Amino acid sequence: MSEVLKKPKAELHMHLEGSLEPEMLFKLAKRNNISLKHNSVAELKQAYKFNNLQEFLDIYYQGMSVLQTEQDFFDLTYAYLEKSHQDNVVFSEMFFDPQAHLERGIKLATVFNGITQAITQAKTTLNITASLIPCFLRHLSEDNALHTFDLLMDHRDKFIGIGLDSSELGNPPSKFKRLFDKARNEKLRLVAHAGEEGPASYVWEAIDILGIERIDHGNSILTDETLIKRIAKDKIGLTMCPLSNQCLQVVSDLQNHQALTLLNQGVKVTLNSDDPAYFGGYVNANYQALIDELKLTDQEVSHLIQNSLDVKFV
Ligand code: ADE
Ligand code: ZN
Repeated sequence: MSEVLKKPKAELHMHLEGSLEPEMLFKLAKRNNISLKHNSVAELKQAYKFNNLQEFLDIYYQGMSVLQTEQDFFDLTYAYLEKSHQDNVVFSEMFFDPQAHLERGIKLATVFNGITQAITQAKTTLNITASLIPCFLRHLSEDNALHTFDLLMDHRDKFIGIGLDSSELGNPPSKFKRLFDKARNEKLRLVAHAGEEGPASYVWEAIDILGIERIDHGNSILTDETLIKRIAKDKIGLTMCPLSNQCLQVVSDLQNHQALTLLNQGVKVTLNSDDPAYFGGYVNANYQALIDELKLTDQEVSHLIQNSLDVKFV
């Protein structure tokens, strides 16, 4: 691991449910009496081979079925914060998917209580400042999102913004205009996944129609010069996730990853882990992968780390 990775950094794109390691998944299944499709950790890991985003999401939503109690959400969150502490993360703005838990009959209070207790404990024990950004599932309707938004507002003091995730193709940002207008009125910070599998036009929509402040992924902006200039000029952060992109075949090879080209064009690129338990590594492994494959210099790595601190919300 490169020395430069010891610098304090922020992680801005990590789904808590995607930090559920296979070992913990089996432990929680046992604790909660839930039967699983796979018979062992090794068998489950064998299933972690994805041709695209949807194949991953199907397994990811299945995996989170073991999360049932406050203790489960505490254990999940605290384990992630310990791992990120080892990577010198000092700020983490963590995603979670409220609708995926409500759909399974889990109350928002259960989710929030478990996660926020872990955040409070980690502040003291690990000196990490962690915040929450609930993401809305774009494959569901806007009405479902608006209803969930009302439920979330009972916990307004426990999160800093909202995001948009799940199946991108066929679910453009414009589908959620009313939701993002409502969130802006509540002074929430706004982010959205865009340009992961979707075209650059989805990124334009996220900026111009939803008014987002950071783009999650944004790989496809490389196809649109005007868009790159706009994102650079407005200092809109791009939370890129190299190992995720490799696993979901968003890029054919890490040597073709867009991060360095965009950084050199003045875009506020940051590196993040997305779903570390599924994609083979936490945040520093994502930096190291690009150090190895794109031959990033220490100066470029420092620039990426500084960007993470510049575009964090908290
Ligand atoms: N949910 C969890 N990980 C995701 C990703 N990479 N893209 C969209 N939705 C997600
Ligand atoms: Zn993501």
